[in-house]
Amino acid sequence: MRQADSTGPAARPTNPVIEAIMNRASVRRFEDREVPEEVLETIVAAGRQAPFTGQMYSVIVIRDRARREELAGLFGPMAVKAPLFMLICVDFNKLEKFVAAKGRRNQANDLAMLFLGLQDAAYFGQNLVLAADSLGLGSCFLGGAAFHGARLSEMCGLPPRVYPLVGLVLGYPAGRRPGPRPRVPLDLVMFHERYRDLSEADVERALGVMDAGLIREGYYRDLNGKIPLQEGDDRLTYDDYGWGEHVSRKYGQRPMGRFLSSLLADLKKQGIEW
Ligand SMILES: Cc1cc2nc3c(=O)[nH]c(=O)nc-3n(C[C@H](O)[C@H](O)[C@H](O)COP(=O)(O)O)c2cc1C
Repeated sequence: MRQADSTGPAARPTNPVIEAIMNRASVRRFEDREVPEEVLETIVAAGRQAPFTGQMYSVIVIRDRARREELAGLFGPMAVKAPLFMLICVDFNKLEKFVAAKGRRNQANDLAMLFLGLQDAAYFGQNLVLAADSLGLGSCFLGGAAFHGARLSEMCGLPPRVYPLVGLVLGYPAGRRPGPRPRVPLDLVMFHERYRDLSEADVERALGVMDAGLIREGYYRDLNGKIPLQEGDDRLTYDDYGWGEHVSRKYGQRPMGRFLSSLLADLKKQGIEW
């Protein structure tokens, strides 16, 4: 188990649950082997046991090869790498039926609903991922879903008040499972009593940890995941392209505004607006 960023004198406790969480890593190569229905049901049931505020989620499971190929047009080739694709959705429709069954109408503002619904769906998804991992499966979230809301709603027959949150590919890992990937040091995540803003040295230390781990693994090289520069010559090779450069290019130069306007328009099409 990884404890390299421990600052305290005492060893942290561990057990099989902690180890499973600490050793999980996204898997991007899969065997050509189906996931049995009872295994699928087990992991979705485990997902469903996550804490919730209103059970505001649904998941669409897609096994059909031709449909997964269509999804690859939206999510990229990862969508067909595993035998199974899941679309995790935020679902107000279902909750509102439960509310209506007792003679009432949902009165909450949709932004507040999203804050809660996104949590329900996310905790569901992560519980499901850990359960899958514990049964020898591997998975990887695919984040493009929200930006293809209209197309995915059409493809999956989503009614109004249901919106795609994230894709997930799932299957049996091919070859050796990747080891756990680095994270920002614990003392920059957990603050006691009050928030402590990061100094320049903290930022450098965090990026140092992240870059070293991912460059050592050849993470972006294997993914061919370098984000092209929009301006100027790209002098970085995969020997020095790390997480810091990646997030900086991802959030610092892509036209996020374009994604945001399509997201708001697609949410509106699904009857979600505030
Ligand atoms: C919301 C979300 C969207 C993601 N989208 C993608 C994606 O589109 N493609 C991909 O290869 N990985 C994607 N990932 C996986 C992350 O890259 C991965 O979780 C992160 O790099 C940490 O690696 P680890 O899961 O192996 O610890 C996504 C993860 C999340 C939570």
